[in-house]
This record gives sequence, C-alpha cells and structure tokens, in this order.
Amino acid sequence: MIDLHSHILPSIDDGARNIDDALAMLYESESQGVTHVLATPHINIGTFDNDLRIIQTAFEQVQQAIDLEKLQIKLAYAAEVRICPEILQLAVSEQLPFVGKYQGKNVLLLEFPHSHVPPGSEKLVDWLMARNILPLIAHPERNRDAWSLPEIMSPFIRRNCLFQITAGSLLGDFGERASNLAWRYLESNSTVVVASDMHNLSKRAPKMRQAFELVHAELGDEKANYMFNDLPLEILMSNVCFKKSSFA
Ligand SMILES: [Fe+2]
Repeated sequence: MIDLHSHILPSIDDGARNIDDALAMLYESESQGVTHVLATPHINIGTFDNDLRIIQTAFEQVQQAIDLEKLQIKLAYAAEVRICPEILQLAVSEQLPFVGKYQGKNVLLLEFPHSHVPPGSEKLVDWLMARNILPLIAHPERNRDAWSLPEIMSPFIRRNCLFQITAGSLLGDFGERASNLAWRYLESNSTVVVASDMHNLSKRAPKMRQAFELVHAELGDEKANYMFNDLPLEILMSNVCFKKSSFA
C-alpha cells in the first residue's frame, strides 16, 4: 500500500515529536504492508510555519534513520497545505511541495479548516488549476460543515479535484458522520485515495491494513487496490524524491 498523508517528520508539526516516534510509525506502517510513505507536514501559516527548506532538512534526518535501521519502506516528502491567501505567493515562487503528478498536473495536498469551507475557496482552486496545480483535498469527510451539507464540496467535485479519505474515518475513528461521508466518497464517482494521516501510535495511528481489508470486503478487489495502491503510486511516481533517488 501507498500512504500519501502522514505527519512523521519530527518536531515540525503536531505529529512525530522525535526520530523515535517517526521510526515507530514507519515500523508499524511496514508491518501493515505499506511500502511507500509520503511525509506531509502541515504548512499552516501562523501555526506551523514550515517551508521547503525546513521540510527537506527533517526529511533527510528521517531518511538517514531509515537507512541505519535498514527499513525497507520508501519515504518521500510534500506537505499538507492549509488554504490561505499566501498560497498564491508560494505557488508563484515555486515553494509549494507537490505530492507528485496526475494527468500532467502538479498535485497539491490542500486542507480546509475542520469547521468549514472558507468563502473564496473555489476561486483559489480555479487560480491554482489555471497554473496546472490540481488540489488533492485532504479528508473532506472530517469537515464539520460537510456533515450537515455534503454538497458544500460539490464545486470541488465538479472541478475534478482529487480527494483523500482517511483510513481511520472508514473505521469510525472520527465518529459516525465522518464515517458515513467517507464511505459515500468511496462509493461515488470522485477520484479518491485512502491515506493514514498518521500523527502518532496512540490516538492518530496508521490503520491502512484494517481499512484496506474493510474496503476490500465491502467494495471489492479492483476498487480497493485502485484507492490504496494504484492511484496513489501513479501520483507519487512524479514526486521529486522519486525522480532523484532510488526511491522506486
Ligand atoms: Fe494531516
């Protein structure tokens, strides 16, 4: 399996606190059958002021630990970028870390606030798409406004954005409303990847294996493999780490 959303880079957001936390999550992921993990620390201006340089430095530290431990798992990096006006400047100055590419477009893991979808989000998405940037919308099923009004995401569905559903949501970890909405996305015609969004091994643990088995049982082999393996790998193959190294 391929995990496109994780907070395993130490001390730069609310995920791993140190290298031991990072390694523990990677060992757990590997034991579940995950072969590739994409580190996606928050870029949330004013809360987590990460940039490419900070992310690259933390990534190299974890990569060294992986090499020392002789873990088989492959690591790459991007970011989970909270929607904000500053994204325009980051895009223009080529400072947005991309997940990879899908149908020739650069894929950006884009996060809305958990409570709502800010006014103007559609315009920002249009602006990004005009610059060949395709949003992969992080966990739409956990957006509280979407619980009462799922159609709030329709503008992004119509624009053919990609959607990332969290493995734990499918298992009920974020409550019934998130679970119902998560399954609705998987059963829809939207283009969906499932990822862990792991932060630690306690409350926000990786649950890719459990989620895969449930999706496999409910929706069948083809759909499960597409959302957990084929599609995320297709996107990740164009990640900067994939191109540069023996990441494959
Ligand atoms: Fe996240």
